[in-house]
Amino acid sequence: MNFQVGPNSLQLNEDGTLRHFLSIEGLTRDQLVAIMDRADGFLNPHQTKHPLTDFTIVNLFYESSTRTRCSFELAEKRLGAHALNLDIKTSASCKGETMLDTVRNLQAMGGDLFVVRHSEVGAVDHIARNVESHVHVLNAGDGCRAHPTQAMLDMLTIRHNKGDFSKLRVAIVGDLLHSRVARSDIHALRTLGTKEIRIIAPTTLLPKDCDSLGVTPFDNMEEGISGVDVIMTLRLQKERMQQALIPNDSEFYHRFGLSQARLALAKPDAMVMHPGPMNRGVEIASDVADGPQSVILQQVNYGIATRMAIMAMCLGR
Ligand code: NCD
Repeated sequence: MNFQVGPNSLQLNEDGTLRHFLSIEGLTRDQLVAIMDRADGFLNPHQTKHPLTDFTIVNLFYESSTRTRCSFELAEKRLGAHALNLDIKTSASCKGETMLDTVRNLQAMGGDLFVVRHSEVGAVDHIARNVESHVHVLNAGDGCRAHPTQAMLDMLTIRHNKGDFSKLRVAIVGDLLHSRVARSDIHALRTLGTKEIRIIAPTTLLPKDCDSLGVTPFDNMEEGISGVDVIMTLRLQKERMQQALIPNDSEFYHRFGLSQARLALAKPDAMVMHPGPMNRGVEIASDVADGPQSVILQQVNYGIATRMAIMAMCLGR
């Protein structure tokens, strides 16, 4: 099925506040900063109040997930909401029920907010266009298009470690062609005024719209990484490749893997990020992933506060 994306205004109420959270595109710098500021207030789990007591939040994951799903569930529980996890594999979807009928039924049970991950671009927007007016929808990743909560947790992690975006050179390395994380990160980094955004990949894995994305492409890792403040590494998303776009994993590591030697070409205090799941020895060396410059587990930790902030804001709390 082909779903229609957007428009970007679909996620906003008439007064400009968030109704849904579907993509970074269409949001202003002030809106992104407001999300990070709110998330800051949720970073200490022991100080959390329960602004969403009595709200019901449904997690609808039509695609596999570890981090995002657990992070949303913990965020919902820390906000005091009822968290409902539908296991799609054992749900009535397997008996031919449409996605919208599933949503309508859960809406009838009092679902206030749906967190949706789907392999088709625009599927989450399709749900957002069809829910009742008091119901909210969050995009937890749709196809190769957008993963806006991941982008916001990445921005929060960068802000905590580096401060001012206007001074930063950021490099994103790996399978950019299939990465919804990279797309949302690029939109967020641009909106926040990042000095330079570089993308590094073999030409077969570079997006076709580099110019309109406002990024500088490199197909040489050593050149692309030199002097950067932040390096985001990405997994090869083989499940999304229609054909072999790289010779093999070891050839990829040889040309683009983030090793200690390559990391030394970046700024001495450069931070290393990865949205997970990580393939050690393919896009990143184990000693870099576990090394002192890695903030990979800090990203995971900040994901909970970020999702708490976004859900509370959508629900007007
Ligand atoms: C990613 C995703 O699912 O988009 N992971 C995540 O949510 N943290 C990236 C991936 O699958 O490689």
